[in-house]
Amino acid sequence: MVKKNACIFISGAGTNLKALIKSSREYNFPINIKLIISSTKKAKGLNFAKKYKIPYYILNLNSQLNLALGLKKLKENNISLICLAGYMKILKKKFMNNYNSKIINIHPSLLPKYKGLDTFRRVLKSKDKVTGCTVHYVNSKIDSGQIILKKKIYIEERDTEMSLKTRVQQAEYKTYAEAIIKIFR
Ligand code: GRF
Repeated sequence: MVKKNACIFISGAGTNLKALIKSSREYNFPINIKLIISSTKKAKGLNFAKKYKIPYYILNLNSQLNLALGLKKLKENNISLICLAGYMKILKKKFMNNYNSKIINIHPSLLPKYKGLDTFRRVLKSKDKVTGCTVHYVNSKIDSGQIILKKKIYIEERDTEMSLKTRVQQAEYKTYAEAIIKIFR
């Protein structure tokens, strides 16, 4: 299979990055992770870039200089899919225009519910019985682009933010991989 080249954007723990790296090493998975971009040098996820020997850059894409360098690296590596995985910066229009319909994100709720941050606390407060995760295309509005795939998780009465996060994130790893397969099917 001819794999498409992908770049993963991170800012934090990078557990989705780790899961994506593992999936990408499977023969039939449609992407090859050529590049990792982190918005901060403090991202723990960079350890996975090092461990799996994937080139990485720490860039603030909202600065002109870094934006130019980032776009250059993406072009050089022939990147045709950008996966945001816990990326905490808002991408500027200037960047988005270069990758129209090629940027996807994973969000820890069933969108359009609970866009934005602090999801698990808000979900638990709501007394909803069901939550989950969503993979969607990225557009100029936060967590609002076209939905690719959602997965449900049932909320238990004894759930805390931590226990819910653990279960939702487990679902995320599988859902992100399935969504990428769906895109290229
Ligand atoms: C995930 O829960 C994702 O839904 C959200 O940020 C979190 C990132 O976690 N957008 P990690 O850095 O992949 O561990």
